[in-house]
Amino acid sequence: MFRGFTEEKNMINIAIDGPAGAGKSTIAKKAAADLGYVYVDTGAMFRAIGLYMVRKGTNLEDPAEIALNAGGADVDIEYKDGEQCVLLNGENVNGLIRTEEISDAASRVAVVPEVRKKMLELQRNIASKHDVIMDGRDIGSAVLPDADLKIFLTASVDVRAERRYRENIAKGMEADIEEIKQDIRERDERDMTRSEAPLVKVDDAIEIDSSYMTIEQVVEKIEELAGNLK
Ligand code: DC
Repeated sequence: MFRGFTEEKNMINIAIDGPAGAGKSTIAKKAAADLGYVYVDTGAMFRAIGLYMVRKGTNLEDPAEIALNAGGADVDIEYKDGEQCVLLNGENVNGLIRTEEISDAASRVAVVPEVRKKMLELQRNIASKHDVIMDGRDIGSAVLPDADLKIFLTASVDVRAERRYRENIAKGMEADIEEIKQDIRERDERDMTRSEAPLVKVDDAIEIDSSYMTIEQVVEKIEELAGNLK
């Protein structure tokens, strides 16, 4: 059950899709706050399932085992002080899902149809009740094909790797730029080539390449596009 909001009317839905590291979550969060919409980070839901599988010792190379275990993972979203909290079987796991291990696990569980089906229902339910900016990989193509505005946010592999490198260094973590690039390429490949809801730019999406734009410039552009929706 989605908690924290109750009204039901015609909701505005904005979909933002794109590869890892293009800046989707930072940008979507800011734009949602400015526009007074709910920000929905769907990657965090897949990350919660990834965490569940890692804890359970699931073989992540085996989609059948993931599908079997997925029944035990109840994922839900609640909002506290405007912040999205991802609940895994009732536990707030926000602080546990941003590691490289869980990023990798999330992209592996995301190829499994049973997992995607569960997440799709949760995501549509939220979007039917609130004005949302929802970010992910298949929002414009599969989750909200009738979204009022669809954005496809990209950036080059080099720029995305550079951003992740700087984030890791700032967090005091070790970082190797070539390893990061390799990891980004592999994750892109997995997200774009899976048979189930792959990352694609749909025809009615507006593409924004954030490689040489600041966060503020991208947010401004999206707000400009969203300006005509209400
Ligand atoms: O955006 P992110 O890095 O937090 O997403 C984690 C993984 O989940 C990513 O590898 C792709 C997957 N994902 C997906 O398949 N569909 C979505 N709507 C969102 C994320």
